[in-house]
Amino acid sequence: MTSTAVSTAPSHPPQAYWEARAQRFAVEGEGLAAVCSYGMPAFYNRVVDLSQRLALAPWLRVRPGTSVLDVGCGVGRWCRELARRGARVTGVDFSPTMIAEARRRAAARGVLARCRFLVQDLAHLDAGEKFDLVLGVTVLQHILEPQALRAAVRRLADHLSEAGRLVLLEAAPERSIGSCDSPIFQARPRSDYLRLFAECGLTLRAIRGVDPAPFKIWLWPHLPRLAPPVRTAALILATALSVPIDVLFGRRAVGRSWHAVFILEHAREHAPEHAGG
Ligand SMILES: C[S@@+](CC[C@H](N)C(=O)[O-])C[C@H]1O[C@@H](n2cnc3c(N)ncnc32)[C@H](O)[C@@H]1O
Repeated sequence: MTSTAVSTAPSHPPQAYWEARAQRFAVEGEGLAAVCSYGMPAFYNRVVDLSQRLALAPWLRVRPGTSVLDVGCGVGRWCRELARRGARVTGVDFSPTMIAEARRRAAARGVLARCRFLVQDLAHLDAGEKFDLVLGVTVLQHILEPQALRAAVRRLADHLSEAGRLVLLEAAPERSIGSCDSPIFQARPRSDYLRLFAECGLTLRAIRGVDPAPFKIWLWPHLPRLAPPVRTAALILATALSVPIDVLFGRRAVGRSWHAVFILEHAREHAPEHAGG
């Protein structure tokens, strides 16, 4: 597959934020500071990466030839994983630097021939085809403007083949908490997402948990007030307490999980439109 990019300049605040973050962190190590928790120590982001991998494992085991759209792909963590298993992957992100880095890392991993990368905003997504699997990992939680969020979900649904699966991993607690929200992040209650998905012609096939241990969420709002050594010690403790719980019970303890994996498909009465039309 060829590697193409539709160029857009960072023109609105969320895009400028992600582009700046990519420019600062995307080339560093595995690029996790660009796409996981910014400002957190490396061990913290490695644990985030692990819990996401465990939660997504069934949907990363694709058959060779599966067509996959990875929306908000960042530095291409999931694109590489899927292409390595033989999928034909399209990665989309509105940060040109994220996309350049995703392409560079795919080439370094020897999977670029099965990848193409597009610089696009999900609210106007047009990848020109429909996909067996549409994957989005911690992306909708960063689209705060309601109209942009709705437009993005509609575009995702429109890019899903008739029998395709849409798999979304998002911060989506059972109850609204708010204390962890920021100008670039919102932990919407799960019911808000379910309502939106239904309005966009999607039906929920299954839902899985990711990270039911509560310690990091308790700690998060207090972190800015802590002195750096105390902060690091508190993070180490919260992470060490969380790992066994999240690893052992993450998928099943759906009700208590902070993030959720939504597995969606077209509602039966929904006739999908032509992608890009
Ligand atoms: C938290 S990172 C996750 C990246 C990737 N999904 C992963 O798990 O490694 C969120 C990504 O979504 C991208 N993003 C956020 N809003 C977007 C939008 N409206 N259109 C396209 N990309 C977007 C950001 O640039 C960033 O790369």
